[in-house]
Amino acid sequence: VSGVPGTIEALEHEVGELRQKLAEAEQLAAVGLTVAGLAHTVKNILNGLEGSMYMIDTGLGKGDLERVKTGWGMVKRYVDQVSTLTRNLLSYARPRVLERRPLDPGELVRAAAALYADKAELAGIKLETEVQPGLPRVLADEEALHACLGNLVTNALDACTWDPDVDREHRIKLSASSSSAGGVSLQVQDNGMGISEENQRKLLSSIFTTKGMRGTGLGVLLTRRAVEAHAGRLWFLSAEGQGTTFVIELPAAPGAP
Ligand SMILES: Nc1ncnc2c1ncn2[C@@H]1O[C@H](COP(=O)(O)OP(=O)(O)OP(=O)(O)O)[C@@H](O)[C@H]1O
Ligand SMILES: [Mg+2]
Repeated sequence: VSGVPGTIEALEHEVGELRQKLAEAEQLAAVGLTVAGLAHTVKNILNGLEGSMYMIDTGLGKGDLERVKTGWGMVKRYVDQVSTLTRNLLSYARPRVLERRPLDPGELVRAAAALYADKAELAGIKLETEVQPGLPRVLADEEALHACLGNLVTNALDACTWDPDVDREHRIKLSASSSSAGGVSLQVQDNGMGISEENQRKLLSSIFTTKGMRGTGLGVLLTRRAVEAHAGRLWFLSAEGQGTTFVIELPAAPGAP
């Protein structure tokens, strides 16, 4: 009775078609969210630039040089933000060709921690590393993974620095351990402000920032893109007011012990 409508075969065919439509709709929704987020970021920058121009105009009108200077400083910061945003958008649109070689995951984590040690110490945040011994190497582009860890550590530092719970002893832990899939898991764990459930939904699919003129909202998207180019996976766990853990899961290099 195959091929007759209402049979299992016909139903399977229909389910397959519906799945395809759902995947397409989800993709469209994600693109829509991203464009909306980008428009929002650009609008914020424009508002900021308008505010700075107003400062300069009124400063000039009153002959108030201090006001002109403040306005000019704001213009510089907003122009800086446009240039970071453009750079990030370009690397999102045209990812660099990966130069992959076997890398020690422990080294990656230690190098990233070393790079941010001063910044963390200055902010009174404890930055520690934990590396499980005997991890397999990962076949990866060193620069790309450094950028990924850098993005995640920067976010963790921000989450601790801007945490409304100022009495908490803030700490960030970078670790490398084996993943359940036989690969390697690189984690950046912080006990900063955490991410609200609403923002968690936006985070992996759109250009989204809560940092106003200090962020472009592309860090996590770029990180996810790079991790997926390494056949890996990026995911996170977060609780508002408690902290966040980001996990980069990478497969072990072929033939790695
Ligand atoms: N560890 C974290 N703790 C709390 N919030 C986070 C954390 N990581 C990301 N977020 C939230 O996700 C948003 C997006 O992060 P993402 O790194 O993509 O952009 P950004 O940090 O805002 O800007 P950029 O990275 O371009 O400077 C942040 O604005 C912040 O609200
Ligand atoms: Mg960021």
